Amino acid sequence: MAGLDVLTVGQVARDLVLLVDEVPAAGGSAPVRRRRELLGGKGANQAVALAQLGARVGLLGVVGDDEVGERLLARARADGVDVGPVVRRAGTRSGLIVDLVDRAARWRYLEDLPEATLLTPEDVAAAADALRSARAVLVQLQQPPAAALAAARVARSADRLVVLDGAPEDPAADELLALADVLRADAHEVELLTGDEPTDPESGLAAGRKLLRRGPSLLAVEVSGVGNAFVWPDGEVFVPLSETPTVDDTGAGDAFVAALTLGLLRDEPRDRVARFAVAAAGATVGHPGGRPALSTEAIRAQLDRIPDR
Ligand SMILES: Nc1ncnc2c1ncn2[C@@H]1O[C@H](COP(=O)(O)OP(=O)(O)O)[C@@H](O)[C@H]1O
Ligand SMILES: [Mg+2]
Repeated sequence: MAGLDVLTVGQVARDLVLLVDEVPAAGGSAPVRRRRELLGGKGANQAVALAQLGARVGLLGVVGDDEVGERLLARARADGVDVGPVVRRAGTRSGLIVDLVDRAARWRYLEDLPEATLLTPEDVAAAADALRSARAVLVQLQQPPAAALAAARVARSADRLVVLDGAPEDPAADELLALADVLRADAHEVELLTGDEPTDPESGLAAGRKLLRRGPSLLAVEVSGVGNAFVWPDGEVFVPLSETPTVDDTGAGDAFVAALTLGLLRDEPRDRVARFAVAAAGATVGHPGGRPALSTEAIRAQLDRIPDR
């Protein structure tokens, strides 16, 4: 597994995406306007986004030993993702997420994510070589804190770029933040971390500055419905959302953090990396389901739709 750019650490699941005009109340029914069955889960979405952007990427997550697991791995391979580190857990069904989206882009997720599909510290230890072989390790924090921490420790000890997506949980929160180079959090996750949900660019930037003191040297903080604040030791920028009608924002954060990671590996200036990340998110909200559909053209089109602040 020599020479990966990024190893993503996180969930792999089957996504069943159903688009309806309106979600029916109990006792009602509704025709499905569009149905997509996809490789999903945040770890997989991030890996696919990176592959689409041209990175050499590997995935560490867990699938069951069922047929769904086999299909998920085959799909990830076809997407150009190195699935060598993925754990196939005996006696477990693979995760399933039903994403029910209405015409107003409001989603409901139904999640069948068996405990055994979560990563354990032992799984992470077994993948230590893969973690060390990548230039950056992208850890998705919906995994158990002990597993996330184990991954961040291995990556840090090999001097890799450590990127976290989500809100680190106790008892690992302080150490995870101290190990991280980058933390990216959505508005709810920012509230979990700081006690307040940012409501405008200024409070987003303030939240980023506050979190900067806890370890990471780059913060990306969502202000819901407005944009994203980026803060680093000697600079900051607020990037508004791209003007793209939202069908389903599922997976936009995954595309965002994938692009952010790759931009940093390419040593781009931080304000350009910031716009690249927002463009990748914008390119993901226009279709139902979390699977990204990134390309140079899609990114360029989105960059043109990001207003100047
Ligand atoms: N039109 C848009 N243009 C750019 N970014 C967007 C747009 N709509 C939503 N986003 C961004 O997408 C991200 C969604 O993040 P998140 O809720 O973590 O998604 P998920 O966890 O489903 O991947 C946020 O950073 C948000 O600002
Ligand atoms: Mg998210």
